[in-house]
Amino acid sequence: MKNLKKLLAVLMTGLMLIFVAGCGGTDSSSSSGSGSSGKAASNGKRVGVAMPTQSSQRWIQDGANMKEKLEALGYTVDLQYAEDDVQAQVSQIENMITNGANCLVVASIDSSALVNVLDQAKQHNIPVVAYDRLLMDTDSVSYYATFDNKGVGTLIGKYVEEKLGLKEGKGPYNVEFFAGSPDDNNAHFLNDGVFEVLKPYIDKGQLVVPSGQTDFDKICTLRWSQETAQKRMEDLISGYYSQGKQLDAVISPFDGISYGIAAALEGAGYQVGKNWPIITGQDAELMATKNILSGKQTMTVFKDTRILADKCVTMVQAVLEGKTPELNDTTSYDNHKLVVPSYLCTPVAVYKDNVQKELIDSGYYKKADVGL
Ligand code: BGC
Repeated sequence: MKNLKKLLAVLMTGLMLIFVAGCGGTDSSSSSGSGSSGKAASNGKRVGVAMPTQSSQRWIQDGANMKEKLEALGYTVDLQYAEDDVQAQVSQIENMITNGANCLVVASIDSSALVNVLDQAKQHNIPVVAYDRLLMDTDSVSYYATFDNKGVGTLIGKYVEEKLGLKEGKGPYNVEFFAGSPDDNNAHFLNDGVFEVLKPYIDKGQLVVPSGQTDFDKICTLRWSQETAQKRMEDLISGYYSQGKQLDAVISPFDGISYGIAAALEGAGYQVGKNWPIITGQDAELMATKNILSGKQTMTVFKDTRILADKCVTMVQAVLEGKTPELNDTTSYDNHKLVVPSYLCTPVAVYKDNVQKELIDSGYYKKADVGL
């Protein structure tokens, strides 16, 4: 009798296990292979995504990618752009908090201006992930998804080094430098990368800077503005190149700045294929890619926003599920309050000869988009 009872208990347990396993098998998250990271785990949680501006193509793509990928996992997404207005971004984040965000993803305009509002997020136990730009002076940030920002500058510097034959001792060449926005930590990292490669050639006299402007404070461009860059390039041309002095290269840290530089050169009568300098850039925007093919820009740095969004989404999932995402840098990004655990994606230099391989074959652009 005792044995029969035992046998029945074992059979019942077995049946229950089969039943539970059966339910699991029809669950959408496990059948899709995403396990606990699928829709079921997101439970309709809200993610606020604060982006800086729609004035440049990359941020539009970043926002769209983040929204699409988070929604595919079942999150509700509140995507906001602040059009480079710092106060507007503060208000947008405040609203996200009030509207019940469970997590915030922030690509800041001014990296130090969000300290108070991020404190509020912390008080509400809302985790924050920094997107592409580091959030400075705050301990209310869990993770940082970005590209190797110094590496972007290194790629720019190395491209110029190679193109001008600096290693072989060629020169002297006349060159002018532009940097990004002083309130964006990325601008400083990038600039360090550029100068690490090119400063030795300035010291040796192979690169000459007729304006003498090499300090970050002199060459930076608030908000990475195309107009500000155009104005500065116009001033450089009229101030230092008016006597027909050859300009060999302009180091630009962003495609938008490169457009401003090109506009100033065109306005002053420079011609592609004649006296047009090397112009660098960053972001592989569509217009920059076309300009590279037509010779108006020489190179850019491709940062695949699809990969960045993937990485950032894994960070959002991790903070919401109490897990640790994949990280590959826990030493570089000190925001003055903590070293923010980061994942750095790899940037790639793009020039005429590898547009097809890097941008078309990778599916980032279609052949027809760039006019190939
Ligand atoms: C980003 C660059 C971008 C720049 C201007 C930086 O923070 O890292 O990809 O070109 O902002 O928008």
